[in-house]
Amino acid sequence: DQVIYIGLMGAGTVGTGVLKVLLKNETSIAKKVGARLEVKRILDKDVEGISAKVAALGMDGSIVTSDINDLVLDPEIDIIVEVMGGIQTAEKFIIKALENGKSVVTANKDLIAARGKELFDVAAAHQVDLLFEASVAGGVPIIQSLKESLAGNVIHSIMGIVNGTTNFILTKMTQEKKSFDEVLALAQKLGYAEADPASDVEGYDAARKVAILASIAFNTRVTDTNVYVEGITNITDRDIAFAQELGYGIKLLGIAKEENNEIEVRVHPAMIPLNHPLSSVNDAFNAVFVEGDAIGKTMFYGAGAGELPTASAIVGDLIAAARNIQFSSRGRLGCTCFEHKRIKSIGE
Ligand code: HSE
Repeated sequence: DQVIYIGLMGAGTVGTGVLKVLLKNETSIAKKVGARLEVKRILDKDVEGISAKVAALGMDGSIVTSDINDLVLDPEIDIIVEVMGGIQTAEKFIIKALENGKSVVTANKDLIAARGKELFDVAAAHQVDLLFEASVAGGVPIIQSLKESLAGNVIHSIMGIVNGTTNFILTKMTQEKKSFDEVLALAQKLGYAEADPASDVEGYDAARKVAILASIAFNTRVTDTNVYVEGITNITDRDIAFAQELGYGIKLLGIAKEENNEIEVRVHPAMIPLNHPLSSVNDAFNAVFVEGDAIGKTMFYGAGAGELPTASAIVGDLIAAARNIQFSSRGRLGCTCFEHKRIKSIGE
């Protein structure tokens, strides 16, 4: 039977989730692709620790290496999954993989938001795929939906709750009257928060995700530096109580709009009427509300973080990349046709 070999960069929470999903659903995935997907090498600095973790899953622990060349220079490996995070090293490794003819699947929102266009160009030049569904809203299938299913629309606007940590904090402050610091500590314990939670509570994580969504929705380059950002650190219990009295809830929203050929992208706390579908998005859940000229209004909802939901998005991309290999149509899912559009700087 045919096998498509994968190289996995990073075996933390998300990488482990990817291994678990690939093992658990091996048979059904093989049927859908027409080939078995097998992780041939795993890249991680902690070779010993990760070998033990991999062996505990029933796999061969000796596939773990700390040498990138064992993945990107192996002619048998067709697809690389990058879930190590960070910017510089991840970028270097992804470029090396693309240049060696590997398709790449990544969850790296920081990198795609800042350097997506350059990476898409490298992928296009080498006719391979660079897929990033897991970079925004974890398991919620919003990237492929914007790129493919909704591609026939002119998108007017996107409004999203794309940071689980801040939504969790605002939900608990509202429903359980807990303090900001208490809930942030809980979000860190539950593993929702970034290593530096300032990027959650100051809105930067949401800004990166909304920049990625805006780029795809409006088919132009939007980076995180184009986004006006205000986080939730100034929201008090009193603000929440006043909003409730008036029939509103407070959510950290990422908003992207196109009006008169001009794009506006921002992240800030917003009052949402309690009867709006975004109001019922609580705890660490994410949702993206899209308005297009043909679809009208539609909302995507689900788990925005966590081991298995994020792995769900990665494995979906892996299957898409594998199918492209099967049908000799690599590069079909690329983003190389960005138009030039004006992006408003807020306060102008
Ligand atoms: N810190 C992020 C969040 C993790 O809270 O949404 C998922 O990207």
